Amino acid sequence: MAVILVTGGTGYIGSHTCVELIQAGYEVIVLDNLYNSSEAVLNRIETITGTKPKFYKTDILDKEGLRRIFAENKIDAVIHFAGYKAVGESVQIPLTYYENNISGSVNLYEAMKEAGCKTLVFSSSATVYGSPKSCPIREDFPVSTTNPYGSTKLMNEMILQDVCVSDPDWSVMLLRYFNPIGAHPSGLIGEVPNGIPNNLVPYIARVANGTLEFLRVFGNDYPTPDGTGVRDYIHVVDLAKGHISALRYAMEHKGAEKINLGTGNGYSVLEVLHAYEEACGKKLPYKIMERRPGDIAECWADTEKAWKLLGWKAEYDIQAMCEHSWNFTVKNPDGIR
Ligand code: NAD
Ligand code: UD1
Repeated sequence: MAVILVTGGTGYIGSHTCVELIQAGYEVIVLDNLYNSSEAVLNRIETITGTKPKFYKTDILDKEGLRRIFAENKIDAVIHFAGYKAVGESVQIPLTYYENNISGSVNLYEAMKEAGCKTLVFSSSATVYGSPKSCPIREDFPVSTTNPYGSTKLMNEMILQDVCVSDPDWSVMLLRYFNPIGAHPSGLIGEVPNGIPNNLVPYIARVANGTLEFLRVFGNDYPTPDGTGVRDYIHVVDLAKGHISALRYAMEHKGAEKINLGTGNGYSVLEVLHAYEEACGKKLPYKIMERRPGDIAECWADTEKAWKLLGWKAEYDIQAMCEHSWNFTVKNPDGIR
């Protein structure tokens, strides 16, 4: 049974990936500093799968701590989620983002190299496409960034491609996520945003449970069918399964691959709002506001490479994504403790 280290494994996407890994028969070790998540997530993973992963409360900035994990365990591959992810915050405190997402990641790659563990799945983002020239977005489209968070993703991709050039034994999957939403169908794990959410679906969830008054729709004058922004929302469980397929591929192939993880479908802000209204069974108030600076009109994935290379495609539709988000919201009014 292959042993997989999951950094950021108590976080939103990490926890769902741990569940899928365990269910696929892998042995999972979680590393997280609990900056943006709770240790209680491990009990939830155990409730779903029957197995509680071994846990290290370790920071990826702690080189010794990383070395110790690799010395104490025979790790076959790493899935690397740990990092900061708030775009607006990254503009305010860029050095903190570069330290955590770049220095921390380089520490991890060094520890892997020392231990002879050269198989990695990395959390990148569709943000590396900047303002794409057209949709659907293919992996060979030009890359650029508009904020420090996006730059940390692109820089990690570059670092890892250089590592693969320097040593052909490495296998690296650069997974470019589109917009992950939803929660595990059990309602036991899901996204717990810190403070007022920036992202659309967590915000709508708070409107639905009455914590926030109305949705602010950022612009209805985009060149899209209803004028509101269009995105490729993907169920977090589908995304997690994409990691299992990517891991299997990485264990059999050397070198670096960039792969989109999206559904290939775009939904507008108002379409998502209406799907959520169906899910929670009530009308949700909204107001049209100014465009949000930095937003693009539309962003959705070409999914052909993921299908051809990994044999993976997303299965849940937008309605299921909203239903599972609502189920998690209702069952966890205070988050996961
Ligand atoms: P999350 O915040 O829920 O999970 C990240 C986890 O990493 C948290 O549990 C946090 O405590 C941990 N962490 C942060 N810094 C750490 C450090 N220095 N040492 C150890 N642990 C640390 O975020 P998520 O939504 O699950 O995202 C996971 C990854 O996917 C991130 O790298 C993020 O940038 C990337 N990503 C997320 C999205 C999204 O919409 N959620 C989209 C594209 C890419
Ligand atoms: C944002 C990040 C992106 C990151 C992604 C996933 C920015 C500029 N981009 O993308 O880097 O990879 O999250 O984490 O922050 N919207 C509203 N009202 C709201 C919130 C959002 O109308 O309260 C609209 C937005 O204008 C957009 C859509 O909903 O059209 C989706 O927004 P969001 O969930 O924040 O994701 P992205 O902007 O795609």
